[in-house]
Amino acid sequence: MHNLIPSAVPVIAIDGPSASGKGTVAELVATQLGFHYLDSGALYRIVALAAKQQNIDWDNAFAVAECAKTLSIEFKNSQVFLNGADISEAIRTEEMGKGASRVAVHAPVRAVLVNLQHSFRTAPGLVADGRDMGTVIFPDAALKVFLTAATEVRAQRRYQQLINKKQTNDDLKVSYDDILQDLRERDARDQARASAPLIKANDAILLETDHLGIAQAVAHVMQNYQLIRNF
Ligand code: C5P
Repeated sequence: MHNLIPSAVPVIAIDGPSASGKGTVAELVATQLGFHYLDSGALYRIVALAAKQQNIDWDNAFAVAECAKTLSIEFKNSQVFLNGADISEAIRTEEMGKGASRVAVHAPVRAVLVNLQHSFRTAPGLVADGRDMGTVIFPDAALKVFLTAATEVRAQRRYQQLINKKQTNDDLKVSYDDILQDLRERDARDQARASAPLIKANDAILLETDHLGIAQAVAHVMQNYQLIRNF
């Protein structure tokens, strides 16, 4: 007799603090496996941008959640569209990173984004990166990884990225000390919030990248996934 229940689409959940390298690692793992990729942080950045455009206070949970409900978000290749407009660059600023962590504190805002995140789980598989992929959104993920590095290491990486990009006047004004301070604030806010705080899932593998290059981190995730697949 055939098994009529299809096995769930596999998910690899990669969580961790800002600038830990999880986005780059997640994208590369997704490419190697031919899986879909979800950058869940982008969703919170989009909500922050939309709220700003509508003059909504990031600390107003109800108004931000109502705003989030109305958004039409589309990912096409590596571009992101909000209500038809390309906002790929606009959401990547330090300001929107901060705004994202402010709007992400609100449980009603997080609730609005749950179904959208689940909709990315399609065959042959999904690699999802964020803060609560393994704990809240995909608790049944096949593999959970918690990627982290010392705050100073992450601040240095983020600073280098901004220098390489020099994308906006705002970013040009940012110093290493500003970035370090901002990362500390964001980590504290992400870890202390009541709703889906940044925390390593009990069944997640801890991957510290202080002395690990991107290629090594990707190889580590791939090896762990192959082990599970062959089990
Ligand atoms: O990953 P990224 O830096 O783009 O995320 C921006 C902010 O969005 C984070 O600082 C965090 O507050 C929030 N976030 C979240 N849950 C996720 C992804 C991001 O709360 N799954």
